[in-house]
Amino acid sequence: AAKRVSTPQIRARKGGEPIVCLTAYTTQMARWLDPHVDLLLVGDSLGMVVYGFDSTLPVTLDMMIAHGSAVMRGAAHACVIVDLPFGSYQASPEQAFHSAARIMSETGASGVKLEGGEVMAETVRYLVQRGIPVCAHVGLMPQAVNVAGGFKATGRSDEEARQVTRDAEAMAEAGAFAVVLEGTLEPVAAAITRSVSIPTIGIGASPACDGQILVSEDVFGLFSDFTPRFVKRYADLGGKISEAAAAYSADVKARRFPAMEHCFLPKSGGQSRP
Ligand code: KIV
Ligand code: NA
Repeated sequence: AAKRVSTPQIRARKGGEPIVCLTAYTTQMARWLDPHVDLLLVGDSLGMVVYGFDSTLPVTLDMMIAHGSAVMRGAAHACVIVDLPFGSYQASPEQAFHSAARIMSETGASGVKLEGGEVMAETVRYLVQRGIPVCAHVGLMPQAVNVAGGFKATGRSDEEARQVTRDAEAMAEAGAFAVVLEGTLEPVAAAITRSVSIPTIGIGASPACDGQILVSEDVFGLFSDFTPRFVKRYADLGGKISEAAAAYSADVKARRFPAMEHCFLPKSGGQSRP
């Protein structure tokens, strides 16, 4: 089997061929996506997509470890990165290290991702110096939804543009191998991509970013509670599932399912032998 994509290899893609990224939460999804992507993110978006919470805040470290392990069992090629959930890293570099070390040792993932720019610089440096590759996440930060007052794009005012630029630069300076740029005005995201030394991975950002990521369930039409403008839907698998469930229901009610081919039948003569 070919070797797994490493975080230094992702880092080296700055300015090169776009880095293809998607989220995955389960073994089977990881198996389907692995041949097509450079990086699989076990995002804390699973709190909304899998568990039905209305934000990512209730997600726990144990949930991230369970899903990170599941994805690792399905991914042989992609670089697998696991989100540090809300409350598991913001208190101190030591808390972040403790949480990130559990993710690394219990899942076998290649690194962690955390939200926050300048304020997280010390923490990112602390983790990287101790052997934990970090992907940063700046711009729209879903774990800060209560401070921001909603899921809103940033970079519209000069002050916001300066802040997200400083945040991305601080993450590069602190040793992050890449930075996710979410919900950021296109020209601002393009300018940051030109100015920072590490790859930018855009989501609601810019085609100029060094890579792109989306939530897989959004891409495949498996989640429709809320679809941000930056999502491009490539399939309607949710619609297919509804149709299949309706067909199954009709078959069961009409006793068309199971057919004899789905049943265990006695071998001829086998049952009656004395
Ligand atoms: O949690 C997540 O899925 C993410 C990506 C959308 C970047 O952080
Ligand atoms: Na996330």
